[in-house]
Amino acid sequence: MSTVTIPDALRETIQQYHQEHLLDNWDQLDDDSRIKFLKTLSEIDYAELARLIDVTLSDSTSSSALSIEDRISPLRQVVRLPRTDAEKKNRQLARQRGQNLLDNSKVGAILVAGGQGSRLGFPHPKGMYPIGPVTDRSLFQIFFEQLLSLSNRHNASIAYFIMTSDATHDETEKFLQEHNWFGYPPEDIYLFRQGKMPAVDDKNGKILLAKPGEIAMSPDGHGGMLQALKKSGLIDQMQTRGIEYLFYHQVDNPSVRICDPVMLGYHVQHDSEMSTKVVSKRTPEEKVGIVAELDEVQQIIEYSDLDKELAELRDKAGRLVYWAGNIAVHIFNRTLFEKLTQQGKTLPIHIAHKKVDHINENMESVSPEQPNAYKFEQFIFDAIPQAENPLVIEVDRASEFNPVKNATGEDSPETSRAALNKQANSWLQQAGYKTHPEATVEISPLIALSAEDLCDFDLQINQNDQEILIIPESEEDQ
Ligand code: UD1
Repeated sequence: MSTVTIPDALRETIQQYHQEHLLDNWDQLDDDSRIKFLKTLSEIDYAELARLIDVTLSDSTSSSALSIEDRISPLRQVVRLPRTDAEKKNRQLARQRGQNLLDNSKVGAILVAGGQGSRLGFPHPKGMYPIGPVTDRSLFQIFFEQLLSLSNRHNASIAYFIMTSDATHDETEKFLQEHNWFGYPPEDIYLFRQGKMPAVDDKNGKILLAKPGEIAMSPDGHGGMLQALKKSGLIDQMQTRGIEYLFYHQVDNPSVRICDPVMLGYHVQHDSEMSTKVVSKRTPEEKVGIVAELDEVQQIIEYSDLDKELAELRDKAGRLVYWAGNIAVHIFNRTLFEKLTQQGKTLPIHIAHKKVDHINENMESVSPEQPNAYKFEQFIFDAIPQAENPLVIEVDRASEFNPVKNATGEDSPETSRAALNKQANSWLQQAGYKTHPEATVEISPLIALSAEDLCDFDLQINQNDQEILIIPESEEDQ
């Protein structure tokens, strides 16, 4: 006879919220499965889930009182790309301020790497994707080399907080260990796992089981980062390390300028609690969120929530009214994290209608052909309306946003590699080198983070070379 039983209080809560079907198979579970299942069951916030189910099921047919169309207006304040001398000078001042913050180890970096690369068709954590135009330099390697280069030149430590999920954690950790964390000091790296939420049946709000004793869970979105940081004690750790600003980026953009001093400088100049980089949208259809205002409060509206007419709206000069595409690069004050993880504070929940594999009441496995379940996610950019003086900074797409999202076509490995190659080529030209017009070029961030950095080297470049690889000597030996 098993000694593992369901505590009465838990059973009552589950019954109170009409989820007792979860216990139907209890008798068939062995002790190990029971222990694991009990842990999952006791971690669910049933009251909050019931609230979400209520809102979701009652809202699925009716729309809310005021639509986005009635509430939206364009951004009022943006730091545009500098054009005038005064703007260029201010950008220089911002860069110096940002560099001072880096010199004083006031800055940390956060990477969200919990999503699976399903759109890309790469069955591994996306950060492992080989994107170097000449080598198989992975996205992770590019990020770590940028940080190593920055921490060396500022003689400072820059803690790197990497959020994984159940789906990506083990493989990410193994990959980074095997590559010796790309030379980054292990004491400056913090891997932490994001939380998850149960998926519920779209007809009756019942929590779905993946199999007996296992709930169909899904990651709680990158907004889950706040609670995950708090639970793992990392917000306290940031404070202990004296970190005041957190640079945030996604795993899919190899052109990101991690801990960009210019962005840091603008952020403090404007006394902002949260800053966001944007680019001009390529087309109305481009799948990027836009930064705009809802009820006169700055926020990001996800591409899937923006009507075609609004996305296509143009001003008299023919420019898109909602042009400011979110590239998912932010700076947060650490104190904003503290504020947003206090009791009673939370980010809004986004509901996604998805296909979720599960078992039915007869214990048969079901792989639905149509969406059958609701998943619940939080988005980190929903922190903007709760931040003081949120700032938006326009940047040049070609040099800062070349994401790897789709297997082919736009935002694919092919377009991203081509952009990295183009930029590396242009840095060489700017530094006075001549290259073959067809040359494929790759430059390690350990050598250069900008064209100016190349001027410090006397590179031996043969104009006839079709492939140019500029990497540290230590890597050449490998
Ligand atoms: C995202 C943004 C979009 C922005 C675009 C820029 C969202 C909801 N939308 O879209 O506004 O214009 O990037 O490239 O973010 N992630 C987790 N855990 C999760 C879910 C996602 O860590 O539970 C991470 C992913 O690993 C990835 C990032 O968040 O690094 C973005 O996720 P993804 O779902 O690919 O966003 P997009 O649809 O591309």
